[in-house]
Amino acid sequence: MKTSAKVFLFLGILSAVHNVQAGEGSFQVLPEPQIYGGKPLMEALRDRQTVRSFSSKPIEPQVLSNMLWAAFGVNRRDEGKRTAPTALNKQNIDVYVLSSSGVWRYDAVNNRLILLSQTDLRPLLNSQDFATKAPVTLLYVAGNDIVSGMHAGSLYQNVGLFCASFGLNNVVRRMDKDKLTKALNLPEGKEVIVSQSVGYPD
Ligand SMILES: Cc1cc2nc3c(=O)[nH]c(=O)nc-3n(C[C@H](O)[C@H](O)[C@H](O)COP(=O)(O)O)c2cc1C
Repeated sequence: MKTSAKVFLFLGILSAVHNVQAGEGSFQVLPEPQIYGGKPLMEALRDRQTVRSFSSKPIEPQVLSNMLWAAFGVNRRDEGKRTAPTALNKQNIDVYVLSSSGVWRYDAVNNRLILLSQTDLRPLLNSQDFATKAPVTLLYVAGNDIVSGMHAGSLYQNVGLFCASFGLNNVVRRMDKDKLTKALNLPEGKEVIVSQSVGYPD
């Protein structure tokens, strides 16, 4: 499979220092998450808010890695457990990353992004303009299960607090599920539960 220049550009940001594979089954190893810093929890709670405007400045790989770890990273490696709880510890929710370089799935165990598509699907988020402007939109993808919305809520609150802690804007949004689910060619039974657009302040 031929990899587009766009993907090389995105991978190129990291290729000097991180293991990158291009082509079929492409993935990009994320920088090790920095599990320190930011505002204390009470101040992050104080500042957590929805802000519906974004600069087009890209989110750096290190910040993306930190944010994804906050969302649903492995925080107890010996037990394989995560930063958010799941019913029966099934961990049955995925975080997808939409950006100008395409669609990626967060592989928390290996701290990497798996390339799913080189198409920029952010235009499909366009019922509200600010969403297409955000450099990154996270999609919470899970089965049609009563707990999926609960799991998504835990993850987007983790990200909301991360954003408050590190000076990023974010907005959680329901979107046209069917259109996105189809465009993403999701595995049987999976759907997009909700989205969360993230970026630097305008
Ligand atoms: C499940 C969910 C769906 C939402 N959908 C939208 C949306 O489609 N568009 C939007 O602008 N904001 C959306 N929001 C953001 C809410 O409007 C926002 O959280 C609310 O106004 C409270 O503001 P706050 O987050 O600053 O406390 C959504 C929030 C949640 C939790």
